[in-house]
Amino acid sequence: IAMSANSDLSKTVRDKYMRLPQGDKVQVTYIWIDGTGEGLHCKTRTLESEPKGIEDVPEWNFFGSSVFWSDGSNSDMYLVPVCLFKDPFTLDRNKLVLCEVLRHNREPTETNLRSSCHQVMEQAGHSHPWFGMEQEYLLLGIDKHPFGWPKNGYPEPKGSYSCSVGTNKVYGRDIAECHYKACLYAGVKIAGINTEAMPSQWEFQVGPGEGIAMGDHLWMARFLLHRVCEDFGVVATLDPKPMTGNWYGAGCHTNFSTEAMRNQGGLQHIEEAIEKLSKRHSYHIRMYDPKGGADNSRRLTGSHETSSIHEFSAGINNRSASIRIPHQVGQDGCGYFEDRRPAANCDPYAVMEAITRTCVLNEAEPVPAGEVP
Ligand SMILES: *[C@@H]1O[C@H](CO)[C@@H](O)[C@H](O)[C@H]1NC(C)=O
Ligand SMILES: *[C@@H]1O[C@H](CO)[C@@H](O)[C@H](O)[C@H]1NC(C)=O
Repeated sequence: IAMSANSDLSKTVRDKYMRLPQGDKVQVTYIWIDGTGEGLHCKTRTLESEPKGIEDVPEWNFFGSSVFWSDGSNSDMYLVPVCLFKDPFTLDRNKLVLCEVLRHNREPTETNLRSSCHQVMEQAGHSHPWFGMEQEYLLLGIDKHPFGWPKNGYPEPKGSYSCSVGTNKVYGRDIAECHYKACLYAGVKIAGINTEAMPSQWEFQVGPGEGIAMGDHLWMARFLLHRVCEDFGVVATLDPKPMTGNWYGAGCHTNFSTEAMRNQGGLQHIEEAIEKLSKRHSYHIRMYDPKGGADNSRRLTGSHETSSIHEFSAGINNRSASIRIPHQVGQDGCGYFEDRRPAANCDPYAVMEAITRTCVLNEAEPVPAGEVP
């Protein structure tokens, strides 16, 4: 197995230093989404005292090299703190802080999708939108081969790997379990974990959360995943079709409800929302991966429990539909629905904004003309 040199460094020696007292000073790690809309970056500074809330964390900046920002300019960018978590690596009172990125003129960058999502959530606040997202990912060695797979060849393809246990079925449980603990410690609203359909593929769930918080918590959970993987010398990929051929892809299934859907008689509101979604399929597909649908075109093939990227569909308990109404919701007559289209590498802010615009703000037209790739 090709592991990174990071994992060979002595964690015992590290612990010796980590136990040193640090006085009143607090380490705060600022985390932001880069110009690809997928990558995360971070850097750490010392504050004189513990921030009690996000308002105590000062703005910071970084030099945005043109390599990573599409307008080609090299200039300072502002880091605006938006959500505060405890640091599970250097331990509380040290903090992790998720930031929005603004340009030197204080306009959001084009990959700062939180800014407009936040405005839409404020407009839709009266409907109390809740989101729950299921993040699928695959573990890789640094040679980009799936972690634990035989060097030359493939694991048993028909093994039932989803929610499995046992040495011949489960790869990398240490990583998923450490990530789960790290999320709980940090204060991320993680709901659970399980193995997924492909060996070395895992899923964690975040939510349910109301409004913008869901996106903040999912991004922090992704940061923690990449950081935990460093300790183990492996890589987590969110690519929506990491292995070509007869293997499952990776999605970010999104549960959604409004207060009206959750209350008695809610099924009618769910059906109305699905009707609205059916008229805006191509808009949603464009919002559901960072490449305007091109990534999802590898995944949404109509097989491996996915719908076709070209057609909208919905059904009770149908995992091959764009929208699934869970069986229990059909029985109870209220609850939520699951949008199965978002790709694993989606920006949750874009997904949440699109669903809310269509289902709550009743935006229908104009749908900008654009082909599904
Ligand atoms: C979303 O709903 C499904 C059932 O349809 C459930 O299994 C899953 O845990 C939910 N996920 C979140 C994050 O709420
Ligand atoms: C589920 O939805 C897909 C896509 O619309 C459809 O082809 C399939 O027949 C449906 N399955 C069931 C059991 O209704």
